[in-house]
Amino acid sequence: MNYRTLGTTGLQVSPICLGTWRFGKEHEGLVETDRQDAHELLDAFADRGGNFIDTANGYGDGDSERWIGEWLADRDREDFVIASKCYWSQVSRFQENLSRKNVRAEVEGSLDRLGTDYLDILYLHRFDDDTPIERTLRTVDDLVSEGKVNYVGLSTADAWKLTKGLWKADINNYEAFTVTQPLFHAAYYEDVAEYLAVCADQDLAVCPYSPLAGGFLTGKYERIGDGTYDLDAPEDSRGEFDDLFLDFYVSERGWHVLDAVRRVAQELDATPAQVAIRWLIDQPDFTCVPIIGARTVDQLDENLGALDIALSDDQLDRIMDARYDEDGSLYQTNA
Ligand SMILES: NC(=O)c1ccc[n+]([C@@H]2O[C@H](COP(=O)([O-])OP(=O)(O)OC[C@H]3O[C@@H](n4cnc5c(N)ncnc54)[C@H](OP(=O)(O)O)[C@@H]3O)[C@@H](O)[C@H]2O)c1
Repeated sequence: MNYRTLGTTGLQVSPICLGTWRFGKEHEGLVETDRQDAHELLDAFADRGGNFIDTANGYGDGDSERWIGEWLADRDREDFVIASKCYWSQVSRFQENLSRKNVRAEVEGSLDRLGTDYLDILYLHRFDDDTPIERTLRTVDDLVSEGKVNYVGLSTADAWKLTKGLWKADINNYEAFTVTQPLFHAAYYEDVAEYLAVCADQDLAVCPYSPLAGGFLTGKYERIGDGTYDLDAPEDSRGEFDDLFLDFYVSERGWHVLDAVRRVAQELDATPAQVAIRWLIDQPDFTCVPIIGARTVDQLDENLGALDIALSDDQLDRIMDARYDEDGSLYQTNA
């Protein structure tokens, strides 16, 4: 595997990050990825050279971090880049925010569950409009000085809030964001274009979440008729059991982009998932390391196959262009 430097952090990471949101996640009593499957996925990812793992304090009510921690205990911690997040609280029903109290408590909880002394990256999971960002950055800066966090990142936020955070860090000499984690995939670009422009300008690494639109861009969902939201979902797929799937990932734009992704996949003898992931890795303006959410080792292996294909400029452009109709209007998304 050819490792990449993650923006300006100096960290050497695999070009694909393993997301662990579904570890321990329950739907009506059924666990999506249980402890054994989680450990199999982590084993497979590491065996193929993956070293970059994304989790959060609240994934699976803490089980994601716990299971990664158990697994990491038999590995060399220094070989892995572990990113976690704070905002939602695991310890207090009053403190869902980026207050000093909550950030500290949540980072301590993450370190405990992961069985590690430090996080490589701490993302602010959401922006907190009630806590001045300089207060949060001061807290994170202290955590960096204490050796509990190495780098700070920001996930979903408006472009101006990302910019404000960078500015406040700069004038106060606090540790600044070096990594970002927006929702970003081939059918969801204009919506985050300004955020991505800030990342390009400020040399921030971009780690897109839901790079396959929750599985939609794998091509396993089929459209029924002309309606946007009537689809045939394979049994046991996210689209079948997760009510949020239609709201977040299915759109008119998505269907048109999927058509283009499928055509390119055919040309390359690859799969749509591989093409959609490669399209992200090849972003020209910033380091882009997609966070994939495979649920089985077969899915993981298919997705890692993105590292073995190359898209021509024409193929990249055709996927870009598919977001617009013949009159140049952008097809709509919901998210
Ligand atoms: N910062 C944030 O707010 C935020 C939000 C969301 C996610 N994340 C991070 O991003 C990671 C990835 O998000 P995501 O899970 O939505 O990513 P995704 O890669 O867009 O979707 C993953 C889902 O697609 C399906 N899939 C993946 N590869 C497949 C393949 N080759 N063939 C068929 N189906 C396939 C699987 O679902 P089924 O098998 O169930 O159909 C899998 O769970 C998360 O784990 C988390 O770490 C962060």
